Amino acid sequence: MNIAIVGTGYVGLVSGTCFAEMGVHVTCVDVDEDKINTLISGQIPIYEPGLDEMVLRNYREGRLNFTTDLVSVLDDVDIVFSAVGTPPDEDGSADLQYVLAVARQFGQNIKKYTVLVTKSTVPVGTAGKVKAVIEEELRQRGVEIPFDVASNPEFLKEGAAIKDFMSPDRVVVGVESEKAKEMLTKLYRPFLLNNFRVIFTDIPSAEMIKYAANSMLATRISFMNDIANLCELVGADVNMVRKGVGSDSRIGSKFLYPGCGYGGSCFPKDVKALIKTAEKRGYRMKVLRAVEEVNEEQKSILFRKLSTYYQSDLQGKIIALWGISFKPETDDMRESPALVIIKLLLEAGCTVKVYDPVAMGECKRRIGDVVIYATDMYDAVLDADALLMLTEWKQFRLPSWGVIIRSMRKPLVIDGRNIYDAEEMKEVGVEYFGIGR
Ligand code: UDX
Repeated sequence: MNIAIVGTGYVGLVSGTCFAEMGVHVTCVDVDEDKINTLISGQIPIYEPGLDEMVLRNYREGRLNFTTDLVSVLDDVDIVFSAVGTPPDEDGSADLQYVLAVARQFGQNIKKYTVLVTKSTVPVGTAGKVKAVIEEELRQRGVEIPFDVASNPEFLKEGAAIKDFMSPDRVVVGVESEKAKEMLTKLYRPFLLNNFRVIFTDIPSAEMIKYAANSMLATRISFMNDIANLCELVGADVNMVRKGVGSDSRIGSKFLYPGCGYGGSCFPKDVKALIKTAEKRGYRMKVLRAVEEVNEEQKSILFRKLSTYYQSDLQGKIIALWGISFKPETDDMRESPALVIIKLLLEAGCTVKVYDPVAMGECKRRIGDVVIYATDMYDAVLDADALLMLTEWKQFRLPSWGVIIRSMRKPLVIDGRNIYDAEEMKEVGVEYFGIGR
């Protein structure tokens, strides 16, 4: 089977590479010439564990190709996946210009039956727009070529993208025809050989599932952040509460970890977009509005704890930050709580020293030299008046506290992910604050 994937961002590059790994002939297409040249030269533009080796191998073995020219590959493919970006508009709705541009090119150039599958997260009703654009282009050409549109939202998590794609909990496919259903069944069967968990739905439902799933996960996090803040006020420990609550099989234990707020490219954007979709239809998503509000406040909780500790006098303090990507195993800083905290610390007159195992370059690109970039995690805490732990990278989990205490001006640790044990911190002589404990 031959397929094309348009858009070599996170989703496009991972999907294309994983399909190639299963023996499919994949051409990844992107309008960004630099990105395509980078990939052809064997470099990977994103940080994702295991991806570079898999891209290189499949490229070398001829199953994975890169081009900027979709038209040149259209004749040879059965399915085109569209995995282009849908950045939020100023009002929070998803901007569909790239998705519709792919549809236009598809309509202008197909010569035989081809399926256009949307993998980008798009608002409910987008497939209808995509179909209308293709029909319009075919009409303009004066040809009648059969085609199908389908919706196949992607649920992979950054940092675990390959595993998530290769053995998914489920694959959701929204289709309108038996033929498209058969082709997508064939494509996905190898991933789910022993337990075929493809859920076929109508197209609007498939489009809705992605938003509902991400919004539900974001809701769990904001709910637990709210509970954690209350735990502090009533003297409860959210770690125990989380275990007790999550042991109910109806609730489950995943995604109940309180922290300094969720970030990333998906949760914030999708929650906003779903609120907008509802608004456009005259409906108010009350729960999701609260989810957003809690998250915005939570992003500054470590700053507020620090400010309370120093009685609002942070002028001249040196503050170390461990972890600046929005979560471990990625250099992605989109909507990262670190950006909010850095801004607040600088406004309060602090000197900020940051360390992250992979996101330092990304941080420099985004905010430049307003912070000090430490050479390692221990360099970051040198002379610091506090250490804020923001992202739970593995290397931060068991540090040498003796070295840290000797280095810091004040052995104060504020842990935004609850990775340290409060009792142990007391024993080693660290003043310690977590979330909800
Ligand atoms: C998410 C979805 O999980 C994925 O299915 C979807 O396709 C894209 O969005 P991702 O953004 O890569 O994936 O990250 P995820 O691991 O879900 O974490 C999102 C944010 O939530 C992170 O900032 C993380 O720190 C935070 N989080 C997660 C919590 O604060 N508590 C938790 O219990 C879990």
